[in-house]
Parts: sequence; C-alpha cells; structure tokens
Amino acid sequence: MTTTAIRSFCDRKFGMFIHWGLYALPGGRHNGRIMEPIGEWFQSYFRMPNEEYAKFAAKFNPVKFNADEWIRKAAEAGIRYIIFTTKHHDGFCMYDTKVSDYNIVKMTPFGRDPLRELQHACARYGVKLGVYYSHHLDWHEKDGGDPDPSRGLNCNSMHWGNDWDFPNRAEKNFANYFHGKVIPQVTELLTNYGEICELWCDCPMDIKPEFSRELRALVKKLQPDCMINSRIGNDCHDFVGLGDNQLLCNRLQYPVESPGTLNNTWGFKYDDHNWKSTEQIITQLISLTEKNANYLMNVGPTPEGDFTPETDRILAGIADWIRDKKQAIHASDPNPFPLELDFAYCTRKGNTLNLFLKKTPETLTLNGIRTRLLSAGGATFSQKGETITIRLPDFHGAFLPLLTLEFDQEPQIRQDFIPQNGAMVLGMSAGTIREGNTDGAEGEEVIDEAAVAHKLSSHVHLDRDGTVCDWNNTVDAIVWNVEFPEKGSYDVFLATQTRWAQQPWDGKREMEVEWNGQRIVSTLNRDQDFSTSHRRKYESRLGVLNVEAGERGMLILRTLRIGSKEAGALNLASLRLVRK
Ligand code: GLC
Repeated sequence: MTTTAIRSFCDRKFGMFIHWGLYALPGGRHNGRIMEPIGEWFQSYFRMPNEEYAKFAAKFNPVKFNADEWIRKAAEAGIRYIIFTTKHHDGFCMYDTKVSDYNIVKMTPFGRDPLRELQHACARYGVKLGVYYSHHLDWHEKDGGDPDPSRGLNCNSMHWGNDWDFPNRAEKNFANYFHGKVIPQVTELLTNYGEICELWCDCPMDIKPEFSRELRALVKKLQPDCMINSRIGNDCHDFVGLGDNQLLCNRLQYPVESPGTLNNTWGFKYDDHNWKSTEQIITQLISLTEKNANYLMNVGPTPEGDFTPETDRILAGIADWIRDKKQAIHASDPNPFPLELDFAYCTRKGNTLNLFLKKTPETLTLNGIRTRLLSAGGATFSQKGETITIRLPDFHGAFLPLLTLEFDQEPQIRQDFIPQNGAMVLGMSAGTIREGNTDGAEGEEVIDEAAVAHKLSSHVHLDRDGTVCDWNNTVDAIVWNVEFPEKGSYDVFLATQTRWAQQPWDGKREMEVEWNGQRIVSTLNRDQDFSTSHRRKYESRLGVLNVEAGERGMLILRTLRIGSKEAGALNLASLRLVRK
C-alpha cells in the first residue's frame, strides 16, 4: 500500500454505500409477514430456499435505474466515492460475471450491467468506484461460509450460513467456494471495471487466515492501490472499518471508515420509516471528518431502480449545506486541537482553520494559538498573546455555518488541555489510562460482585471508537493534564453510551473526579439525551469544580462503585467541563 493511496483514501472523506440486489423486490415483506432486521438479510430471515428466492430474478426489472442520476445526486452532495454491492450474502451477482449464471445480466428481464453503467457515470462526475463483495458468506452456494454455530446467530435468530438448503455442515468445503467463485470474481471485478478504490469485504467471522491472505495477495497483485477494509478478517486490511453506524469519540491516527444507514436498514424495506434527519447525517459526516475518518453513507435503492423520496430529500439537503463548504471538508486535515471543541467541529487545510459552528455565541475565545490570525471570514477579532477573541456575525440560524480563520502560516496550537471558549471536551482515549493493582491491598474492590460477575477484574480498555469499555474495577484511573487560564467554576458532565440500542442503560455507577484536592462524586443520571436509534447516550452532570487563574494539574476520573451489571457494561465517551 502506497502512502499516496492512503492519502487519497483519507482525502475522499465522504462515500456512498449502495445496497442493491434481489432483496429490494420483496423489501422485507413475505406472505403477510414483515421482517424486523436489515432488509438484505431477507433470505436468511425467512429461510427461503434458493429455488424460491431465485424467482425474484425473473421479476427484477428496475426500469427507473439511471446510473447518471444516482452519481450526479451523490456528487452534488459532496460524495467522492461509491461502494456498490456486487454480490451480497444471497450470492446473486449485480454485475456481468462469467463465473456464475446467477447474475443480473443472465437471470433478469432487465439484462443490463449496473456496475458498468456506474463505472461510466463515476468517471463523468469524478467519483471513485469501489465494490462490496461478500467474500465469506454466500447462501446460494453449498460450500459458502457457514460459521461455527457456537458463535451464535445473527440478530433475530438469523443463520449466518445457509443451513436451510444445505443443512449438513460436515459436507461443506469452503475452499471449493472460495477458489471457484471468490477468487475468479474478485479477479473480474478488479480487471474489467477500471480503477477500483476499495474492496469492501464483510462478515469474516471465523474465516481462516489463509483465505484472507490469499484474497489480499490477489488484490495487491491486480490493483495495489485498492484499499481493503478490516472485515476481510485476520488483519489483512489497509483501513479499519468501524461497526455499523458507529461514531468516534476522538481523533484517530490511522485510516478509518464508518458505514452508516439513513434509516435502520441497508437494503430497501417498505416498512422502515425511521429516517434520520438531514441534520443528523451532516453531523455524522462532519464529526467523522474532523476525527480523520471517512463516512460511508448508505442508500438502499428501490426495486424500480430509483432512490426513495426520503433518500432524495436527504441528498438534496446535504447538497444545499455542503455547496460552499466542500473545500473545508475534502482533503482537509483533522481537528488540530487536542480536544473536541464544544462549540464547533473543526478541520484544517494549509493555513486555514475551518470551524463548523454548533453554537453561535456573540463572541468566541480561543486559547493556545501561537500563530498570527489574518482574517476571520469577515468577522472582527483581536489577538493578545495566545488568545484570540472573535465577534461572531449573525448566521441567521443557519445549520453548522462555516467560519474560516486564515493565519499567516500553518496554525500552531498548543497541545495541552486548555478550555476553548470556556469549555473542554476530554475524550477518554485522549487521556492516559493509569492501571491500578487489581489484586493488591490498595484500592479494595467495592463492586457488587454478584451483579458484575460477568467481568470483574478487567482493566480499562479502549473500544475502536475511542470510548472506554468494561471498566469494572475501582483501581484504574483516567488522567488528563489540564490548565485553566482563568478563575471560574465548571460544571462537569460525563457522557456514557451503550453499544447497541437494545442494551439497557443503568446509571448505578459511582464516579469520582479529582482535581488538585477537590473531589466530586456522583452516580449517573440522564441529564442530557444524545441517543440515536443505534445506541443510547446520555450525559450525567457529576458536579462543580472551582479553579484558580493559571491553575494546572491532573484531572483524574475514577470508578468508585458499580451497582449493576448494566452499569458495568456502559461505555464511557467523554468528560465535558463547561464554565458556569
Ligand atoms: C452487516 C450486515 C450486512 C451489511 C453490512 C454493512 O455486516 O450483515 O448485511 O451489508 O453490515 O456494513
């Protein structure tokens, strides 16, 4: 992998995932039943035999499909690459393949190759083309991946492998499928469609390392700059893919992509009306951009081949918002402050800081800036020492308006934790984890052992998204070196979240914040609600800290007690200090 390929990947920022296949036709409905989970899992959910599922192909005629229109709408919304499902777990190929007749060109009245049309449309709009390919699971093939049942089932009791047509696991020979279908098809995809920017693998489960390695070697032989996601399995990836709809709590140093849905499903479903707002999608994009991660926003086109009206509305909304902001997003560098700003998302490009304002107070005060400010997007400002004060213009209620700060050179920003405009958001992964002694006498366990029996003595560790998880002991601490330029009182909030929507949130966790001899102790409350349909997230107000002008020290976060299993399973996201 060349550094140029990694840089190009990071520069793209915004991608469009396209989940389109035969599953769009039933759209989650079967014989009067409506499936609850994600629509592209239709065949597994209803345990539909291949013979019956294949009949959808005879009816698949998406006459409204217009690759040019899809890509034009994407490009207008600032999208720089697409990932198209060439073969999902159902095994049906959405491109012209010579390896299997089970494909859109051979089996449907439509008879066209959407991947070819998308390739040409992408070239016209300067959008890169990437492919999703389910390399492990394939329900159409007897030898398709069938993970060990001891791993459990997918949500709503869906089987990972096809055990309804092919119940005898002992007879399955994954190598046959892998060498007979995966290798030749990935060869076709990376040979016949020009430059492919990403190969997007999925559900590696227990795939053996030799297969992940062989696939990687093939990709690197055919197109060395094609980036591979971590779902190839066995550490054979070029970039880390976050979990579905996962956001980040801190900036990361390596290439990352986060796939997300517009409603709850990837593939089209008639009955999923849980659409996110345009504002939520934009926030998702910019909050990832500022943390060095790409956002892969999914669309699930209809069986007729067009986008749903809600998808069109969201894309048009993003296009409106992003029109005069693209230069502050594409090919930008992440937020150069050591912490997330409470009042803005921030990117940098050259000598420019781009602030996407979440709040628009009359004045903004930035600390720790060691470079001369030349202009602030027409706003009046003053600069004294390391402090800049800006009088904000009236943004007339605009959503995340952009304020551009132009410096005389690349802005140098102090990397200490200092409040910015009177607030600090301290991400857990930005702090230092101090491991205590879990078996020593010091720091006795005071956890309700019966309740937290699932994982008692584990040390604090970080989840992929920068949150702290499974913090079930009272001896570890998270520490930040902090400085307060001015005297004042700060409200202290702790953000905690669940990993998925159904996971219960229980605040029976007693936390302590220590600052130069002051201590605040509190259990968790739902003072502020930041929940989405994918996970619960609340901020609890822990108490107040008083600080002197110029006071420096270590802000220490500890767990004092956990009173329930649920409280022990909560992920901790950030500590926020806001000047009263
Ligand atoms: C999950 C689903 C799959 C979907 C993917 C998108 O792995 O199993 O259907 O394509 O998420 O990220």
